[in-house]
Amino acid sequence: SNPSLLILAGDGIGPEVMEEVKRVIGWFGEKRDLKFDVSEDLVGGAAYDKHGVPLHDDTMAKAQEVDAVLLGAVGGPKYDDLDFSVKPERGLLRLRKEMDLFANLRPAQCFDALADFSSLKKDIVAGLDIMIVRELTSGVYFGEPRGIHIEDNMRVGINTQRYTEAEIERAARAAFDLAMKRNKKVCSMEKANVMESGILWRDVVTEVHADYPDVALSHMYADNGAMQLVRAPKQFDVILTDNLFGDILSDCAAMLTGSLGMLPSASLGLPMANGRPKAMYEPVHGSAPDITGQGKANPIACILSFAMALRYSFDQGAEATRLEKAIEKVLADGARTADLMGPEDGTPISTTEMGDVILAAL
Ligand code: NAI
Ligand code: MG
Repeated sequence: SNPSLLILAGDGIGPEVMEEVKRVIGWFGEKRDLKFDVSEDLVGGAAYDKHGVPLHDDTMAKAQEVDAVLLGAVGGPKYDDLDFSVKPERGLLRLRKEMDLFANLRPAQCFDALADFSSLKKDIVAGLDIMIVRELTSGVYFGEPRGIHIEDNMRVGINTQRYTEAEIERAARAAFDLAMKRNKKVCSMEKANVMESGILWRDVVTEVHADYPDVALSHMYADNGAMQLVRAPKQFDVILTDNLFGDILSDCAAMLTGSLGMLPSASLGLPMANGRPKAMYEPVHGSAPDITGQGKANPIACILSFAMALRYSFDQGAEATRLEKAIEKVLADGARTADLMGPEDGTPISTTEMGDVILAAL
């Protein structure tokens, strides 16, 4: 039978960009005989509107069964005042938590045609291709105790950075495995100078490294890492880091490449019975309420997320490259959605037109 894909388009521009991904999936089925069993369901505000919860139990169960989940985006002003327990983001967090997606892969890749568009000088970013592996299910966003308490008549906000050896080890393995498929170089970032969790992180990563003699490992304090990312990002291949630092460093790396509309991501868990990792693929951007319904959204981040699914869930690296090359070509030919141009750079093309030229390039 065909590999299975669950599409959760979500809210705002999610369904708009996902429409183009569906055409791309159709193209691979028709022209490359790469067929998927695609099902669709609701997540986020769309699920809340129908079920009163941001992720229905049936949808959660389906996500656990499929080979990969493809998610658009969740959230929007309509849902901002909802109780935290039913906020759209909670649908996303539940998927990550229950599928145990502990390794978040965020590539920062600079397409030559967009090098001028980066926040940095062209020679610093042209040809850039790095991958940040962020631990996603533990650390300070989840550690207990947490809360806002009263102490001595004063409010105190508390979060706890907590990592077990096992949590660090599996994130490290994900990074080393990935490095083996790339340029065999991992830089691990923490703050071992001031944090206990950082000391343990450095220890465990060094231990796991013993199983990967072909990979060059270096360690860096995360604050220096932030500086180096902006100063000379091409020194890196794979960057391994924790949940909090990864959140910040990956957003920083994002701006090396131009627009939020270009950035894909993958979140991977443990292997399933069929050997494939539990996996969810999604663009880094949100639901972009400011441009929803206007045909302005750039579908490339979501299409590149599908390319990552081809590579990391379905072992179709060559087909993933084919798709990335098609995107590189349309950008080189000058195709630009509004987010990829300045106000004086002419008329942008629409979401659907970007889909059209990518299909034509394929
Ligand atoms: P956002 O990513 O939705 O938008 C930030 C800016 O980038 C906006 O000006 C938007 O128009 C632009 N943008 C984003 N994606 C684009 C694309 N594909 N093409 C062209 N322009 C694009 O972040 P924001 O505004 O902070 O959040 C909006 C909503 O999305 C909120 O409800 C937030 O909670 C949610 N959100 C959801 C995420 C997810 O589903 N993973 C991630 C981030 C935010
Ligand atoms: Mg962030």
